[in-house]
Amino acid sequence: MSKPIKRIAVNTGGGDAPGLNAVIQSVAIAAANRGWDCFGIRDGFNGILFPERYGEGGVLRLTRDKVRGIGHLGGTMLGTTNKGNPLHFPINMPDGSVREVDRSDEILTYFATHEIDALVAIGGDGSLTIANALHEKGLRVVGVPKTIDNDLDKTFTTFGFDTAVGFATECLDRLHSTAESHQRVMVVEVMGRYAGWIALHTGIAGNAHAILIPEIDFDLDSVAAKIRQREEDGRQYSIVMVAEGAQAKDGHREVLADAEVGHAERLGGIGERVAQGLAERTGKETRVVVLGHLLRGGSPTAFDRLAALRFGAAAVRALDAGHSGVMVALGLEGVNYVALAEVAGHMRAVPLDSDTVQTGRDLGICFGD
Ligand code: F6P
Repeated sequence: MSKPIKRIAVNTGGGDAPGLNAVIQSVAIAAANRGWDCFGIRDGFNGILFPERYGEGGVLRLTRDKVRGIGHLGGTMLGTTNKGNPLHFPINMPDGSVREVDRSDEILTYFATHEIDALVAIGGDGSLTIANALHEKGLRVVGVPKTIDNDLDKTFTTFGFDTAVGFATECLDRLHSTAESHQRVMVVEVMGRYAGWIALHTGIAGNAHAILIPEIDFDLDSVAAKIRQREEDGRQYSIVMVAEGAQAKDGHREVLADAEVGHAERLGGIGERVAQGLAERTGKETRVVVLGHLLRGGSPTAFDRLAALRFGAAAVRALDAGHSGVMVALGLEGVNYVALAEVAGHMRAVPLDSDTVQTGRDLGICFGD
């Protein structure tokens, strides 16, 4: 039987996503209702790892007052970072090289000396991998799945995804009229890393004519043929939705910045390449819209807000019941718990036999294959 909890901490890691504040609020209030103190770690784990930079402010007491009225706000009141993974922390060496060190013991020491009994780690694959490592080193940890990319395994969805898809779909709705007025091809690039969830769901909901996702290598000749076919049918414009991680049949993927120690590679630029290729093949005027970080902003939709509140409360219930090393997941029947070890490092790609992909094909959408 693990010792009763009195104090917990919560942090947000990786790219921000709408709904983070709702999770923080839910965790803090569910903890307060059990008589526990709740603390928020600033900027991933930086509030602990850089005491000289943050001073006492690196870890904040999250009273009810501190989390009041934040559930509908985008971003995260705690701040976040997708740099400086504490397991592979970059250290600049005097010779100019960069070495990586494991700083996770400093986090464990902080929890022990401040008598914080457990951590609720809100994050995507990278943050949940860190959470799992901390759990394996003895910390009581429950993870909460966050990412607009929706690429986490073992959960029906992550919060942030619905907001991103809703906004992107509204953008597509707006692009139809301008594309049609000018008889152009509009190429719309969206985030999603190596998974095509955002592009697929937005493209189908927003009536794109072609959708290019990382799970299906594309051939621009096939997309150009679709555009020409539409012209023959009297429709002089087309909308092409491209996931940032989509790759051509030759295996080429557009990368804005290579991976560095403690930081993943940055994707982007595929929209421009696709637009150029389609302009050359079809002779049509082509424009690119990169939605980028707009997908991460704004207030969470009601779906994401509710998911976030449910996840936060469920994380506290899990700790109260003595669980550790689990992630709160959403199943069709409600929230459940899965081992962090089963989630960490397992990306959930779009299954090609899913009915959503099949729906796109039945509607005549070109997937570039
Ligand atoms: O994982 C969320 C995400 O927005 C990805 O879709 C995107 O590839 C990446 O983060 C962008 O990261 P950054 O904020 O470092 O540009």
